Amino acid sequence: KAELYSLYKGVYVPSSLYTPHSMKYYEDFSFRQDDIIIVTYPKSGTTWSQEIVPLIMSGGDQASVESLPNWERVPWLEQNTTCQFNLETRPSPRIFATHFHYNMMPPGFFEVKPKVIYVMRNPKDVFTSLFHYSKAASYFVNSGPQREFLHKFLDGKVPFGSWFDHVKGWLNAEDKDHIMYITYEEMIIDLKDSVARIAQHLEKPLDTEVIEKIADRCLFKNMKQNKMSNYSLAPRGIMDQTKSEFLRKGITGDWKNQLTVAEAEFFDEVYKDKMKDVKYKFVWD
Ligand code: PPS
Repeated sequence: KAELYSLYKGVYVPSSLYTPHSMKYYEDFSFRQDDIIIVTYPKSGTTWSQEIVPLIMSGGDQASVESLPNWERVPWLEQNTTCQFNLETRPSPRIFATHFHYNMMPPGFFEVKPKVIYVMRNPKDVFTSLFHYSKAASYFVNSGPQREFLHKFLDGKVPFGSWFDHVKGWLNAEDKDHIMYITYEEMIIDLKDSVARIAQHLEKPLDTEVIEKIADRCLFKNMKQNKMSNYSLAPRGIMDQTKSEFLRKGITGDWKNQLTVAEAEFFDEVYKDKMKDVKYKFVWD
């Protein structure tokens, strides 16, 4: 089903959502200084951040995550003409998401340098999550046998390309002052602290009790109950959650239940080689 994907700047993207029209809109997009962009490789904490950031920016107002589904609340920059979310006329501060690599960002991004929250996740867990999700999402090629999918993932022959290139590209951003780096694992270890750090990056001072309320609201079990965030409003033809739930497990280390010992060792070898020049200290290393 190769036609499910097209190549954008050398990276596979789902053709149904990332149309040439959408890409043109994306490339010409006018950023504002106070825009906030959540950047992720898929399955790394996008939906979680789409809950956290609106709650922070609204000072903990629950309505910020109860009135619109997450994909309208924090729309993807690169899907606009497929989805028509009127990105230009939204009031500031606007909050957007993107799965794109650093070198795929449009020219306006490098001129305006809006605030970025770059969320990373242990790639073995990303693989595990993507393996399951690819069965549910109609716009992704079905994962097929695990071994084959593992090779595709490690070679970057999956939607949004190589995890390694994505992470290295964003970590090596030329100007890092406007970028905050955080991992899914840190959010699992201490969500309150993560919320506080994100709020600080967004220059939004919040009382401790508001931070606690936000963190509680963003716990996996609570987000799973939010119909505006659990993708239950997504049409079955686009996402069939009887095959795999979107908010599936929400834990770290599920790769241990997924990869064989040999697969995990192979993964580690590739990881070591591809990440050898990276100085960033990951929680999972
Ligand atoms: S996507 O398709 O790129 O937008 O997916 P993304 O939202 O980045 O990643 C989905 C995984 O994030 C988990 N998730 C959470 N984990 C912990 N706490 C909270 N609140 C939370 N919200 C989403 C979700 O369950 C997916 O991971 P897996 O491992 O599949 O459970």
